[in-house]
Amino acid sequence: MEALVIEGGVRLKGEVLVSGAKNAVLPIMAACLLTDGECVIRNVPDLRDVRTMLKLLDALGVDIDWRGRELRLRAKRIKEPVAPYDLVKTMRASVLVLGPLVARERFAKVSLPGGCAIGERPIDLHIKGLRQLGVEVDLEKGYVIADAKRLEGSIFAFDKVTVTGTENLIMASVMAKGETILENVAQEPEVWDLVEVLKKMGAKIEKLDVNAVRIEGVERLSGFEHEVMPDRIEAATFLIAGAMAGEEVLVRNAIKEHMVAVLTKLSECGVRMEFLPEGIKVYGCDRIKAVDMETFPYPGFPTDVQAQYMAMMCIAKGTSVITENIFERRFMHVAELRRMGADITVEGKRAVVRGVKKLKGAPVMASDLRASSSLVLAALVAEGNSKVSRIYHLDRGYEKFDEKLRKLGARIWRVKEDA
Ligand code: UD1
Repeated sequence: MEALVIEGGVRLKGEVLVSGAKNAVLPIMAACLLTDGECVIRNVPDLRDVRTMLKLLDALGVDIDWRGRELRLRAKRIKEPVAPYDLVKTMRASVLVLGPLVARERFAKVSLPGGCAIGERPIDLHIKGLRQLGVEVDLEKGYVIADAKRLEGSIFAFDKVTVTGTENLIMASVMAKGETILENVAQEPEVWDLVEVLKKMGAKIEKLDVNAVRIEGVERLSGFEHEVMPDRIEAATFLIAGAMAGEEVLVRNAIKEHMVAVLTKLSECGVRMEFLPEGIKVYGCDRIKAVDMETFPYPGFPTDVQAQYMAMMCIAKGTSVITENIFERRFMHVAELRRMGADITVEGKRAVVRGVKKLKGAPVMASDLRASSSLVLAALVAEGNSKVSRIYHLDRGYEKFDEKLRKLGARIWRVKEDA
């Protein structure tokens, strides 16, 4: 295992390029299962989750050719429509093959993902939605078995907004017989990046007024070429890094329209930013103001930026209350931030963060993807050295995070865990 060693107190300066979005590329890769045509995906980030998805696609019989940022996928034939536990347990997003397999093969056997560090994370709504489309769904020995002989257009309203649930149901409907209306669908930009791909493939999808989509099933879909949108969560992470530890950092490719809630919060905190055609420039802020924040589905403040925001609130002037409304256990970073001298108390879904003048470097442990980056941000401004262990979590979703920070001047090294 690897860890990151970080020397705190160095100011960041320069520019950083945002990679393709993890949460867009994964469903787009799954969409290749809908066609026997060639699918060309560009701006593909080299992430552990992308490699896991490739393993799964490989097991399903997909031809893979990955060169640099370009990935060519071709699912001429599906070997066996099964997503095994081994792969699903390492990455919950593996469940994204369920919708496409149901649509193409009219059958799928996908392992149930189970809980994870940040909460229960059931897929009951994916299953309910499929049943509404006429799919027979059974749960057997930890697997979802979906038999879609009678896949028919229908209507379905999600009880709760779910990102991968929306994506699965849209992909299941594109080749169903007749019309489907899905309501209370997730509005995340990554969902619309996928929809754009599906339209390129020949799917008929129309966005309706009230968080709804209308899908007209078609007989078959073709291949596509697509460039993945930039990762707004990575962009937000670097903006927060710049505010906390920067002199001046240009986050290239950050799209302001995708991150208005985060940008509003940053400016309430007193962070100065410039919106440029090539990205967003952020200036280091000596007196970050403590401002309350609550996570919500898009366009609200993303749960995937909650931990990084908390790292910033740890050194802000004053007290802030952070409310996590999406995942019930997403405060695993709190105990580790405390080890660095942060003053945080948690009551249920609320964390009260009293800003301190200085954090102190310490050995800490990453518990999930975004918690990892928040610990790195805290370490950048802490006094002395920190060691963040278990960074395989970080590598799941950030491409070359340490290398990008090093280019900005950070003193950060990757070491073997026992070094
Ligand atoms: C996606 C993102 C993840 C992000 C999350 C919330 C991907 C690959 N991952 O995860 O980075 O943190 O959205 O923005 O895009 N829920 C149910 N039943 C279901 C499905 C979800 O109760 O069938 C609940 C979940 O437990 C959670 C909430 O709905 O409380 C939102 O989860 P969801 O949007 O589904 O998260 P993911 O799609 O797994």
